[in-house]
Amino acid sequence: MERIAIYPGSFDPVTNGHLDIIKRGVKLFDTIIVAILINPRKTGLFTVEERLDMLNETLKDIPHVRAESFEGLLVDFAAQKSATAILRGLRAVSDFEYEFQMALMNRKLNREIQSVYLMTGLRWIFTSSSIIKEAALFGGDINGMVPPCVKKRLEEKLGKKLG
Ligand code: PNS
Repeated sequence: MERIAIYPGSFDPVTNGHLDIIKRGVKLFDTIIVAILINPRKTGLFTVEERLDMLNETLKDIPHVRAESFEGLLVDFAAQKSATAILRGLRAVSDFEYEFQMALMNRKLNREIQSVYLMTGLRWIFTSSSIIKEAALFGGDINGMVPPCVKKRLEEKLGKKLG
């Protein structure tokens, strides 16, 4: 049986921390579907199409990984894709409460889908899309924190050259 995992998130934009989880996750699963939530209540810096473009560009050389977007409940999307796992990364203890709550809710909604957590690599413990966007907004050096195509998109979006 093919083991499919969904790696869900906002990916506004994808970071090297996300990529680290994807590259390690693909060793555990046959296929990973990176799933961007279409959230009408939350407008990001990038549109869902732009986020998908950046993910496609970033993931193009990683076999068995593809990006899609979804609306509604994550477990429903996972079931529709015949996935048996939800993959997430865990950074500091501060992530734990939210992730625990989400994992328990998802388990309540569908007991067939397991939440699987990978500890973030030490290098990425302090990074997040939000903090990288904030640093970029004020012209900070974000080299090594995001894939090159994301840095380029951030420069275009913010209208400034970064680091
Ligand atoms: O990158 P994020 O913003 O931490 O990702 C959060 C995400 C997309 C994983 C979460 O908000 C989600 O799964 N939303 C879909 C709606 C849903 O299924 N909610 C019930 C479980 S909490």
